[in-house]
Amino acid sequence: MAVTAVVGGQWGDEGKGKVIDLLAGTADVVIRAHGGDNAGHTVVNDLGEFALHLVPAGIFNPAATCIIAPGVALNPAGLVRELEVLEQRGVRTDGLLISDRAHLVMPYHLMLEQAQEGSRGADAIGSTGRGIGPTYGDKVGRIGIRAGDLRDAVKFRRRVSTGLAHANDQLRMLGRFDGEISESQMADEYLTYASRLREFIRDVSPIVAGAISRGAEILLEGAQGTLLDLDHGTYPYATTSACTVAGLCQGSGVPPQAVDHSVGVYKAYCTRVGSGPMPTELKDGVGDYLRERAHEFGTTTGRARRCGWFDAVVSRYTARLNGFSSIALTRLDILDELETISLCVAYDLDGSRIQDVPYDASLLERCRPVYEELPGWKTSISDVSDFEELPREAMRFVERVEHLVGAPADMIGVGPARRQTISRGRFRSAAPFAKP
Ligand code: IMP
Repeated sequence: MAVTAVVGGQWGDEGKGKVIDLLAGTADVVIRAHGGDNAGHTVVNDLGEFALHLVPAGIFNPAATCIIAPGVALNPAGLVRELEVLEQRGVRTDGLLISDRAHLVMPYHLMLEQAQEGSRGADAIGSTGRGIGPTYGDKVGRIGIRAGDLRDAVKFRRRVSTGLAHANDQLRMLGRFDGEISESQMADEYLTYASRLREFIRDVSPIVAGAISRGAEILLEGAQGTLLDLDHGTYPYATTSACTVAGLCQGSGVPPQAVDHSVGVYKAYCTRVGSGPMPTELKDGVGDYLRERAHEFGTTTGRARRCGWFDAVVSRYTARLNGFSSIALTRLDILDELETISLCVAYDLDGSRIQDVPYDASLLERCRPVYEELPGWKTSISDVSDFEELPREAMRFVERVEHLVGAPADMIGVGPARRQTISRGRFRSAAPFAKP
C-alpha cells in the first residue's frame, strides 16, 4: 500500500502545492478531498507558475489520475475557468475525474456568505468569499446540490428551486435580500457548465478502491491547514471543512488504515490570512520583511498575509492530531538574511506557562509567545541540495523544529523551483525530482 496524505500543519499557505507537485511526479492517483476554491496552491514547474484552486496539483503529471473527491465544495464556473487556463498553457487535463457526490457551490452561496460576514460586523471571519461555508451548510441541511445532479436537468432544476428558496429566506432574515435571482437563468447557466464537465463526472469510489487494491501510489492532497479545521482549529476563525489526515480520508473515501504515510507541511515561519488569533504574529519591521521577501499575499484573494515566527506550540498540536510521520519544512531560505531567528516554544497565558492550545480563540489571543532565540546563518541556501551542506545554524534550526514538533523533516524547501528541495529519510530515494 502506498497512500500518502499531505496536510497543512499551520493556517494554510504552507507551500503544499510545491510538495504535492513533487510527490505527484511518481503518483498514480492524486485526490483533492475537501474545501473548495477558497484554497490556492501555487506550483512552479517547467511550464511556469500556476495558481490552482480546485484542480489537484497532480495535473502536471500526465500519467496521473486526478480526482476531485466527494468532500470537495465544487464551483463549476471556477473549475471551467481553471481548466481553460491550464489547457491554454499546454497542460493536459484529460486525467481529471470529478466525483458525482461533490457538492456544488451555487451563486446564492456566495451571496449568503457575503451577507453572513456583513452581519458579523467586527467579528467577521475574514472568509475568502467563495461561498464554501454556505455550501457545506446546505450539505449538512440535506438541501445541497451535487455534481451528479447535473446529469438530469429536471432533477437539477428542482434542486435549484429548493436551494434558492432556502437561501432567499436566510437572506431575508439577515435583512440582505435585494430581489429574486432568476432561478431558471441560474439553472441554465449551470447546465452549460454541465456540458463542459460531464465527461469528468463519475462515481469515483470504485476507481479509488481499485487503485488501493492494486497498490497504486495515491496522494491525498490537503487544502487549508489543520489550524483552520472546523473541529480542531482556532474556531470560530476556521474554515468549514476537515483539514486533517482524518478529514482527507472522509472526503476521499480512502479508508484510514490504507494511509501509510502522512506528511505535515510547515513553513519555517508562520502566516495567517483572515481574522483570528496568531500568537507569534509580528506587527513590526520583521513581519513586513518576511511578507515582502516571501511575497506573502493570498493566491486566492491577494490579501496580505500576517507573518510571524515559527510557533512550535500550535505545530506540535497539529502534528499530534494528524500523527505526521514526516514534516515538509518549506521556505527555509526566507530566513537566510536574519541575524537571529525566534522559535515559540510555549505560551504565557495570564502569568502561567502553557504548552498546549487553549480551546477558545479569545484565550489564544491573550497568549504571549515564549521564545527561544537561534542564530541565523546569514548566507544563501538556495542552491543547497543535501542536508549536510546546509550551514550549521540552519541545520540546528531544522533539528530544533523536528524535536519540538516530533517528526523528521524529510523534505526541506530552499526555493520555489522543484530542484530547490532537500530530500532526506523517507524521501531520499523516492525523490528524483529534487535533483537538478
Ligand atoms: P473560508 O474558508 O473562505 O470560509 O474562510 C475561513 C477562514 O479560512 C478565513 O480566515 C480564510 O482566510 C481562511 N482560509 C480559507 N482557505 C484558505 C487557504 O487556502 N489558505 C489560507 N487561509 C484560508
